[in-house]
Amino acid sequence: MIPARYGATRFPGKLMQDLGGKPVIVRTYEATKDTRLFDEVYVVTDSELIFKEIELNGGKAIMSIKEHDCGTDRIAEAVEDMDVDIVVNVQGDEPFTSKSGLKQVLSVFDGPDADKIDLASLMTEIYDWKEISDPNSVKVIVDKENFALYFSRSPIPYPRDKNAAVQYYKHKGIYAFRKKALLDFYRLPMRPMEAVEKIECIRFLEYGKNIKMAISNIQSIEIDTPDDLIRANKVLKDGNNIVVNNQYRNFPMVPKVVYGRGSFDQLSSILAPQRKDKAPFIYLVDDVFKDNADIIDRMNLRFNDKLIFVSAEEEPKTEQVDTIVKNIKGEFTYSPSGIIGVGGGSVLDLSKAVSIMLTNKGSAADYQGWDLVNTKSIYHVGVPTISGTGAEVSRTTVLMGPEKKLGINSDFTTFDQVLLDPDLTASVPKDQWFYTGMDCFIHCVESLNGTFLNEFSKSYGEKAYDLCKEIFLSDNLSEVESRGKLMMASWHGGMSIAYSQVGVAHAMSYGLSYVLGIKHGIGNCIVFDHLEEYYPEGVRIFKEMKDYHNIKLPQGICNNLTEYQMNTMIDIALSLVPLWENALGDDWKSKITRDKLQDLYLKM
Ligand SMILES: [Fe+2]
Repeated sequence: MIPARYGATRFPGKLMQDLGGKPVIVRTYEATKDTRLFDEVYVVTDSELIFKEIELNGGKAIMSIKEHDCGTDRIAEAVEDMDVDIVVNVQGDEPFTSKSGLKQVLSVFDGPDADKIDLASLMTEIYDWKEISDPNSVKVIVDKENFALYFSRSPIPYPRDKNAAVQYYKHKGIYAFRKKALLDFYRLPMRPMEAVEKIECIRFLEYGKNIKMAISNIQSIEIDTPDDLIRANKVLKDGNNIVVNNQYRNFPMVPKVVYGRGSFDQLSSILAPQRKDKAPFIYLVDDVFKDNADIIDRMNLRFNDKLIFVSAEEEPKTEQVDTIVKNIKGEFTYSPSGIIGVGGGSVLDLSKAVSIMLTNKGSAADYQGWDLVNTKSIYHVGVPTISGTGAEVSRTTVLMGPEKKLGINSDFTTFDQVLLDPDLTASVPKDQWFYTGMDCFIHCVESLNGTFLNEFSKSYGEKAYDLCKEIFLSDNLSEVESRGKLMMASWHGGMSIAYSQVGVAHAMSYGLSYVLGIKHGIGNCIVFDHLEEYYPEGVRIFKEMKDYHNIKLPQGICNNLTEYQMNTMIDIALSLVPLWENALGDDWKSKITRDKLQDLYLKM
């Protein structure tokens, strides 16, 4: 619901002002609809003019009958007789409303504490004392679960010691209400704190409602003044508008890549032009190479460059990213010239995440999701030493967070440079080679059988699929040939899902990793082995490959799970909405149930 009052104190008639050929309110309506997050979108207005304009543009509008004190009242009146579950209030004067912000505010209702939540809203980190002390910016404080404790125009908490490290948050006026909370607001009279601060949402707190706050650091442009309108028109004209709601994704690819046996020797000459005075290169290297003097020697570290060995025994964690970033910031005055990841999918993902978090504030966990990164990352290079995950080409970095296993999927995640040297994969143990190779095979099966499939993904997916069959099912390839081919299969498989999505095996395997700490490659294999129903041909070939290489998968891994663990596993799997949408279509919820998932897990 987009409440739209014609008169605005600071900028009268602002919603009908022209923004790139259309009134502001029409832009907001279209941007909201384009997110495809809602069953219905309405503008609720007191103005005939706005009503007619929306209808004229093919939109839906509702005239609100009464005079209202605020937008919340206006939409409450409108939904009173509608059969709705969750109502989202989108500000009429935010024509570049971002999909990710709205998605975040909605996603809290899928979380484990959803039952406790009456409404959800957004907050953004602020750092500038001018903004913190500005009464026009409403600050919010939250408890450890991010439930709002209080909203105020004063700086809260008040810093007695000005240097105290505390994160301030500014409230953003986007709300998602359960219908009941919204109607209660409408019926209950204003109480003193709301009246004195003139902040609507305090009413909810004064009546004991729970407001869950999600963090969104996406910048948006509110049209509050004529200057804002000029700025917004410029943004539109320059085409750099912040909206990411486009139907077709504008996907970044790795801009530079070198391929060839022994190309690892070129690494230092490739890096040289990127070196900034006094700023080191940081190498994150899989600790299997700890005693490999040859590899370390060939990296040719200079000046204050630093080598950090990381274990790939476990999936990379947001906490691990935060620690590495903190250590680098603590040790060096200058921000690094670049981050070089040398290892498998885990190390590559870790390197991408570290390069992002060196320029973005907060914790890596704040950026798990789609397009939440604001600032360009540090120059980063990926050197895979095991093939299959596609991490070298992907626009994401999958991390285990405190609440979820999810990627930081952004334009700034993709590597600036990749070096593909098939010889580096020579020492990979056989079962690991198989599991990681199967990750690639499963990427292809899931992409090629998904509803998101398009010619772009298909062309890469089919190539990788054929390469995998050749590598894993024929015996006329030399080891050297096989290594080169698997490296390219990984690349193509990664490209295929980058412009599409993975599916059932990945969604369920994320659950296994989160609860049991099972690594991605083997987790996928364990799951995929039981997915005949969804991918009959792919699973048949997989089993053939498994037998051919005499691979034995663990059995009965979910037999001794507690009910809580099983539920968490199912929650994690179901939270990966785009994967299910790709695998089973828009009505996936009617096709996969919790019981069904539990049955599948129990077979593994
Ligand atoms: Fe994967």
